[in-house]
Amino acid sequence: MPPNAAEMHHASELVADAAERRWAVIVMAIIALLLGLMIFTSLHWATMPPSRVETIDVRTLHLKGEFVESNLGTMVDKDGRVVARLVGQQYSFTPQCIVVPVGVPVTFRGTSSDAIHGFMIGRTNANTMLIPGFISTFTTTFPTAGEQLMPCHEYCGTGHEAMWAKVRVIPAEEFFAKAKAAERLSCVPG
Ligand code: CUA
Repeated sequence: MPPNAAEMHHASELVADAAERRWAVIVMAIIALLLGLMIFTSLHWATMPPSRVETIDVRTLHLKGEFVESNLGTMVDKDGRVVARLVGQQYSFTPQCIVVPVGVPVTFRGTSSDAIHGFMIGRTNANTMLIPGFISTFTTTFPTAGEQLMPCHEYCGTGHEAMWAKVRVIPAEEFFAKAKAAERLSCVPG
């Protein structure tokens, strides 16, 4: 005997239920995976969420205050902390080559003079956005000497992929000897 309309309806309902359940499981698995990734990167890479909001006037950035050109680069402040200051603009970083000591915490302070930029430094957890009007800051330690690439990682216009700088990590003794001789260090040639 062929199935009647009610039986066929019941069969299609079962198929629909099974499909719905299958998709619910897939969606939950994707959410669990994304949450897992967030937890993994925050613990393993020590991702650094912004700790506070610090603002700066973009219109006078180059004229006065912390981010005038002569104050950019790496320095040792009066408390002995190593501070690296930089500005991002379309399409370069100033300074183009940042010098830091190996094994010593370095506090980066950066901002942008035009669009939103960002940077990450090679195989380290240094990673931040540079936003006009705001100062981004984080502290990190470079475990090994050598040169690292520092590309802009926020799309900022047609020249975005050409925007990058270098970070030269040098032995701490060499760094502090150089810091005694000059107020602001960088490894920009000339
Ligand atoms: Cu600056 Cu992309």
